[in-house]
Amino acid sequence: MKLIVTGATGQLGGLVVRHLLRKVPASHIVGVARHLEKASALMELGIEVRQGEYRDPESLSHAFADGTKLLFISSSEQDDPSRVVQHAHVVKAARDAGIKHIAYTSFAFAEDNPLALVHLTTEHAIRTTTIPYTFLRNGGYAEFFIHSSLKANVENGTIFTNAGQGKVNAVSRSDLALAAATVLTEEGHKNKEYNLVSCHPWSFDDLAEALSEIAGKSVVHRSVSFEEEKSLLVRSGMPEAYAERTAYVYTAIAEGKMARTTDDLVKLIGYETPMKELVGKALQG
Ligand SMILES: NC(=O)c1ccc[n+]([C@@H]2O[C@H](COP(=O)([O-])OP(=O)(O)OC[C@H]3O[C@@H](n4cnc5c(N)ncnc54)[C@H](OP(=O)(O)O)[C@@H]3O)[C@@H](O)[C@H]2O)c1
Repeated sequence: MKLIVTGATGQLGGLVVRHLLRKVPASHIVGVARHLEKASALMELGIEVRQGEYRDPESLSHAFADGTKLLFISSSEQDDPSRVVQHAHVVKAARDAGIKHIAYTSFAFAEDNPLALVHLTTEHAIRTTTIPYTFLRNGGYAEFFIHSSLKANVENGTIFTNAGQGKVNAVSRSDLALAAATVLTEEGHKNKEYNLVSCHPWSFDDLAEALSEIAGKSVVHRSVSFEEEKSLLVRSGMPEAYAERTAYVYTAIAEGKMARTTDDLVKLIGYETPMKELVGKALQG
């Protein structure tokens, strides 16, 4: 059996490989990297690493040869039409290599999210092959909100956002990686879609409360407008385009677009890492 993991040099893929190593022998795992020179840490884990670039179908046919199951991690390309083409190359190469099961990292509630069209398109492409699939419809990464720069929020006692009282169903990459490793190594997940979001969505008031408790110092969440948030982020050193994107994410949260929940993740991996635990780690990091 060969379990093939694309995007293995990325943050999610690297965690998947590490979770897989707790479940199967290293000889069953193949990591695919577009730049082999970035893969030395993977090679040190004792797994086979093959070169594969989504833009280059030939490289994919070598990368997927003799594979049993494929974890296809979506491309980080920003241009959506180019991303669709890359994903079509991956799906066709998987079919031609005789892959028996494709697990694909889609996005939570993709059919209701206008920003997830690439993921829906890729899901449809996978269905056309008739290869059994599992759509891992990942929620937003908790690490987008919970990271070491929260230390600065503890220092100045405030978190500013334009998210209002909106709730966030984000999940840690490690939990999502364990979900992927579980689907690759267990039976019973063929032709299933899992919306992998938190069972316990939290608000930025909740985040401020967790920071206060862990740091032993009062931290409050203050709501500001979209424009105020954007300029605060730019003044803190964030590039303007990224600041604008972040403020848009907060608007989506304020509108309740990241509050929807399911228990798919907990059913799959048996637990979810609580927000407070992630905050504790972020403050230590
Ligand atoms: N759920 C969310 O909140 C969320 C947020 C952002 C992104 N995503 C999606 O989830 C994916 C995984 O997330 P992540 O945090 O692991 O991202 P990441 O750290 O940027 O990793 C992306 C991986 O995909 C590889 N890759 C990108 N383009 C490729 C191509 N053309 N051919 C072959 N490999 C390619 C990258 O290779 P290199 O190491 O060479 O760059 C890297 O290994 C992202 O690619 C993106 O599609 C989800």
